[in-house]
Amino acid sequence: MTPTITPTTEAPIKDYRAPLRFWHWGNSLLVSLQLITILFQEVIVDARSAVPEFQETMAKENIALTVKQASSLTHILSERIWEWHIYFGWAMVAFFVLRVWLELRGPSELRFSARLLEVARRYRLAPAADKSEAGKVLFAKSTYALFYSFLIVMVISGVMLIYRNDADFLRSIKHEVEEVHNFTMYLILGFFVVHVVGVVWAELTKDHGLISRMVGGEAPKR
Ligand code: HEM
Repeated sequence: MTPTITPTTEAPIKDYRAPLRFWHWGNSLLVSLQLITILFQEVIVDARSAVPEFQETMAKENIALTVKQASSLTHILSERIWEWHIYFGWAMVAFFVLRVWLELRGPSELRFSARLLEVARRYRLAPAADKSEAGKVLFAKSTYALFYSFLIVMVISGVMLIYRNDADFLRSIKHEVEEVHNFTMYLILGFFVVHVVGVVWAELTKDHGLISRMVGGEAPKR
């Protein structure tokens, strides 16, 4: 019997299976919703800056509110927004667990690490003329590794913030955790911009159909 040699990897790099697409769009939606909650919290509602408005409105009714009283009213608004941030946060935790599960137990075509290794292998084996193109693909995939690390930080720091007043240790580091959570948001925003520009650029130049493959999952013709 002729022995068969199993290929080193089965990971496709250009098509996206249904669980990957579900995860990608679900997670993008949740990250966008989280960013929107922050937009409302910090810019649109900005409860802290509404304190004088509350005082002025009540003064018209001959009610004199102290800053502390007005703050406790505006606090109700910001708490409502945080509640939604936490609901979406738990949904992000669930998506994160799903991603870890796919990575550990899923087939190679669903594993990010397998896809990354495959792209790295193609870069290594590419002839000199194709090296630059293969390098761009490898760079794009490597930015996703960065994104996953931001996601890990966001999910862990978010859960720590939910329980920050429930344990002495968490209470003692809560300001640092807030800083990390806040700072990582800017990294995620940066990724978001680079990712969208990169994908649109690829679609318009070399990789026509990339976006529709990520939506509809049509396999590329090889
Ligand atoms: C991309 C996703 C996310 C973004 C952009 C984001 C952004 C932020 C920002 C900017 C803050 C304010 C931090 C500060 O006080 O300086 C915050 C607070 C918080 N975040 Fe997130 N976050 C995200 C995901 C999560 C997740 C996954 C969780 C939970 C699992 C979470 C839970 C919290 C909690 C509990 C707070 C504190 C709310 C409060 O002050 O009552 N966040 N988030």
